[in-house]
Amino acid sequence: MIIAIAGAGYVGLATAAVLADKGHTIRCMDTDSAKIEKLNLGLCPVHESGLQTLLQKNKERINFTSDGRTAYNGAEVVFICVQTPEREDGSVTLAYVYSACAEIAGSLERDAVIAIKSTVPVGTGDAVSEYMRRSDIRIDVVSNPEFLSQGSAIHDILHAARIVIGAAEERAAAAVKSIFESIPCIITDRRSAEMIKYAANGFLALKLSYINEVANLCEAVDADIDSVMRGIGSDPRIGAEYLKPGIGFGGSCLPKDTRALSRMADSGEFKMVCAALEVNREQGSLLLRKAFKYYDSLNGLVVALLGLAFKPGTDSTENAQSVHIAAALLENGAKLKIWDPLAKDSFISRVSGEVILCNTIQQAILYVDLCFICTEWEEIKNLNLEEFLVMKTPIIIDGRNCFNPADVNGLPLIYDSVGRRTVNNLYEV
Ligand code: UDX
Repeated sequence: MIIAIAGAGYVGLATAAVLADKGHTIRCMDTDSAKIEKLNLGLCPVHESGLQTLLQKNKERINFTSDGRTAYNGAEVVFICVQTPEREDGSVTLAYVYSACAEIAGSLERDAVIAIKSTVPVGTGDAVSEYMRRSDIRIDVVSNPEFLSQGSAIHDILHAARIVIGAAEERAAAAVKSIFESIPCIITDRRSAEMIKYAANGFLALKLSYINEVANLCEAVDADIDSVMRGIGSDPRIGAEYLKPGIGFGGSCLPKDTRALSRMADSGEFKMVCAALEVNREQGSLLLRKAFKYYDSLNGLVVALLGLAFKPGTDSTENAQSVHIAAALLENGAKLKIWDPLAKDSFISRVSGEVILCNTIQQAILYVDLCFICTEWEEIKNLNLEEFLVMKTPIIIDGRNCFNPADVNGLPLIYDSVGRRTVNNLYEV
């Protein structure tokens, strides 16, 4: 099948690579010609595990272009994978979706299906369908929301639990379904498909904020979140996934989609989702609150920040709690030494103040007064806790529960994590 993809971000590129690998002919369009140039040189502009290799393997079947007509004319299915950025007030802007639609409409000369993967407000598919209506050819519009996670996009497309197709015409749904072959498919109307995406991300946000609040409560009542997680996660009605406590969720989708959902109801706010967002905001200051258990003031302290990306496996710091934490530390007069294997550049573009970039964890923690862990990178989890003894005062505040408190095993340090008993072998607090 000839398939066009609008938008060469991580969703568009991962979709292009996987579908090319299945034997389809792919035309991938992006208005950013520098990005297209890079792709044509065999370089991948986003960090995504396995993506560069899969693009390289299938380069004969993928044409990267900035020219809409080259991409869209003759395509049987066009996937819209452009970004839908958030406005100041939490609503999303559809400017990129509509400019892609305008180019698609101006380029198509035969029947085609347009599948919207971008996360768009309910009703957008209907509006696009109306916009695409033509007397000479038939353009069907379906909603095909994407549930893949950054960092595991290829795996998530290949092993999706389901694909959702919202269509007004059976023929259009069947065309998109045939592309994804054996993946279980939920076919519904366009508006419900669009709603499924928001409802899924909103529910995940609720789950995360719930477990974070339970973790905070565990600390207050001297219980252990690891045991509680095992106890509730083994109940199939609850499930063990997405139940890891921490400093709160970030990224380019979950916070944005949750904020959009929170203000979707005409009647006012979506109360539970608003509460999840509020808990997430507060959870971002957890490490700072913990730091004040050990220091009356952070002024003049040197703090190591290990892990900056919003989660491991990505170079993104979009809506990352590390950014808020760094800003609060700097505001309190602390100096920062930071380490991250991928996200340093992205982080530095969002934070201003006295920050020392470190190439190794050892460099970052050397002679510091405090260490915050914000992302559970393998490099951190693989450390031996003894290695932290190079700190001036070995106080580790771990926002991602990278270590087992039992591993402290008499070492002269403080290990304070989320929802678990603090091990304090240093001094009375
Ligand atoms: C998310 C959704 O998973 C995906 O379905 C949707 O399409 C886009 O948004 P992504 O942004 O890649 O994907 O991140 P995800 O892996 O879901 O993690 C989001 C945040 O939640 C991260 O900050 C992560 O650290 C946090 N998280 C996730 C937890 O704190 N605990 C968990 O158990 C899982």
